[in-house]
Amino acid sequence: LWTAEGIIEDAVAKVRKQVGNETVLLALSGGVDSSVVAALLHKAIGDQLVCVFVDNGLLRKNEGDQVMAMFANNMGVRVIRVDAQDRFLSRLHGVEDPEKKRKIIGNTFIEVFDEESAKLKGVKFLAQGTIYPDVIESAASKTGKAHVIKSHHNVGGLPEDMTMELVEPLRELFKDEVRKVGLELGLPYSMVYRHPFPGPGLGVRILGEVKREYADILREADAIFIEELRKADLYDKTSQAFTVFLPVKSVGVVGDGRRYEYVIALRAVETIDFMTARWAHLPYEFLEQVSGRIINEISQVSRVTYDISSKPPATIEWE
Ligand code: XMP
Repeated sequence: LWTAEGIIEDAVAKVRKQVGNETVLLALSGGVDSSVVAALLHKAIGDQLVCVFVDNGLLRKNEGDQVMAMFANNMGVRVIRVDAQDRFLSRLHGVEDPEKKRKIIGNTFIEVFDEESAKLKGVKFLAQGTIYPDVIESAASKTGKAHVIKSHHNVGGLPEDMTMELVEPLRELFKDEVRKVGLELGLPYSMVYRHPFPGPGLGVRILGEVKREYADILREADAIFIEELRKADLYDKTSQAFTVFLPVKSVGVVGDGRRYEYVIALRAVETIDFMTARWAHLPYEFLEQVSGRIINEISQVSRVTYDISSKPPATIEWE
């Protein structure tokens, strides 16, 4: 019987059998898959689960607080929150190439995660939110390595000397099943049906060099866009929506003067598989509301544009 309850019962039994009394470590990103793994493992092994949440300075507004509120405060999950913002941002200083940025962010993440796991001493198990499509994908690619910290995929993998055994309770599930399991475990709908967010986060949504100032501006713009999408009941009608920071200055009028400030692009797409995507035909009135708020509330922004490119040939992200 393939119900969410059945899947959970089965997974709980398997995990308990696999790990016994040992501690299990999980990189919690706040995304759907790692969140569902956290909830599932918490149910299965309680305090034997230790989550590490890394703030890389490239997260969305209040993301760290929200993850702590939901998992640590509300559910009682052990979560270690690591503030590594300075480390990530200093490594990214002066780097403009998108693939280099991805590598730096991925490698720094692994380094931070490694340090945390070393502090815990003798942890034998590492949990990951690998889902069935990831398994197929890595089997299909010739260089495919299952050993990838999934929330930061497309970068490296675990260090060679990593000796932890993997715990992957979602390995046989499709995304819709993962979501149902999440709901059944009590995670809120808004989190289980959240749009995907790339591992490098805002790092690939700030074109070129990443600076803290840019990330702060982008976080505010993104929060406004998402808040308005939810208010207008459009969030669930788009597959992915976000803002992009363009490090160019464009003119605007403020009172009698002209001011040169940054540009924010809005991106929203509809897609089933993220391999192809159509730009979302959001209502003009809605776009007007979002652009008005961004320009009025963020003084460093003088212009908002809407991305009307579909994939292919454009990609969903701008880098
Ligand atoms: P593109 O831009 O390639 O994006 O059309 C397709 C989907 O993949 C996500 N994406 C990433 N996810 N690390 C990730 O974890 C990355 O480096 C990365 N780049 C793109 C993107 O958000 C979209 O959902």
